[in-house]
Amino acid sequence: MRETSAFKHEKTKWTRAPRLMSFMTLFLMMGSFMLIFCSSSLKVSWPLNFWTSSGPSQSDLHMTTSVGTISPANPSASEFFVEYPGKYSFILDEPNRCQQESPFLVLMTPVAPQNREARDVIRNTWGTETTVLGQMVSHYFLLGLSKVEDRAEPIKEQVLQESQRHHDILLSNFLDTYNNLTIKTMLMFEWLISHCPNTSYAMKVDSDMFLNVHNLVDMLLKAPRHLYMTGVVERGAAVLRDHNSKWYMPVSVFPESRYPPYALGMGYVFSLDLPQRILGASAHIKAVYIEDVYVGLCMRHIGISLTDPPHGGLFRVKIPHPTSNCYWTSVITTILQNSKQLSRVWGTSGC
Ligand SMILES: *[C@@H]1O[C@H](CO)[C@@H](O)[C@H](O)[C@H]1NC(C)=O
Ligand SMILES: *[C@@H]1O[C@H](CO)[C@@H](O)[C@H](O)[C@H]1NC(C)=O
Repeated sequence: MRETSAFKHEKTKWTRAPRLMSFMTLFLMMGSFMLIFCSSSLKVSWPLNFWTSSGPSQSDLHMTTSVGTISPANPSASEFFVEYPGKYSFILDEPNRCQQESPFLVLMTPVAPQNREARDVIRNTWGTETTVLGQMVSHYFLLGLSKVEDRAEPIKEQVLQESQRHHDILLSNFLDTYNNLTIKTMLMFEWLISHCPNTSYAMKVDSDMFLNVHNLVDMLLKAPRHLYMTGVVERGAAVLRDHNSKWYMPVSVFPESRYPPYALGMGYVFSLDLPQRILGASAHIKAVYIEDVYVGLCMRHIGISLTDPPHGGLFRVKIPHPTSNCYWTSVITTILQNSKQLSRVWGTSGC
């Protein structure tokens, strides 16, 4: 969940008609408050229940109690949950590679099966950095099953060829959709636990990210070794209640008005003693579809706070304008528009 995109999305919906509506609502609300104020000073008895039950804190309380009434049969609520844990397994795997190589850092990139371009660009850019500051780094791609069927070459056949050639594909048997990203993330934790016993850190990094592996390893060599997670840490992020938002969350699914701290899903780093604890927590918290928020919920459950990066310029959501070539040597990660931009930037980055 990226706040900046969320705001952008919200802004486009902010057309003239709703604006007029909201002014009218504001006007009415002010009128109501005036009425309450006057009535209380005049000691007129108003239907108190009516007013108090519409106050924000009261309605939150009311909604909290309604959580208990959700049944799995209620479709409006269940579509915001995902099937985790589920009976998932890896169809394409690298069962021994991580244990044999014992890398210091593993980079895990969720990517749709049909998005071969993104994988190839990563293989030719930051994926080439396998020994950094004397530390071994390896990367893997996380895939689910495709919904898109290509008649000329079925995705699975092509992915199989990539796997045989590059040995970097982890394909699991759940449907790879946006709303199933939480499943992908949890399977990533499962895979790391069972395959990388001698690895210190992992990073979940999206396929449209610029990544400066050198700066990342440099930061990690000075970072805490245990119970550590960093990235762009969101604190006090509002739960979006607008039905049109990409990250709409009904009160019945998550009644609190703010999310606990969580690291933005674009790219977060963690020590490898965390996945086991996160999975342990996930047994107690029903999985919601917003993957980074869900990891944050698990972190809150185990009582481990997230760490901010050593300084603010390392994990960047947006590229500053103008961007000098030196920018790319100073950051760890930044969201790009697409894979083509990653290719372009990689070719020019250097001071
Ligand atoms: C998520 O994956 C499961 C398992 O493949 C599938 O049954 C479900 O329909 C998927 N959900 C969405 C929203 O795609
Ligand atoms: C774990 O990795 C370290 C260096 O990264 C190496 O010295 C050690 O032998 C490895 N242990 C195992 C059990 O592979």
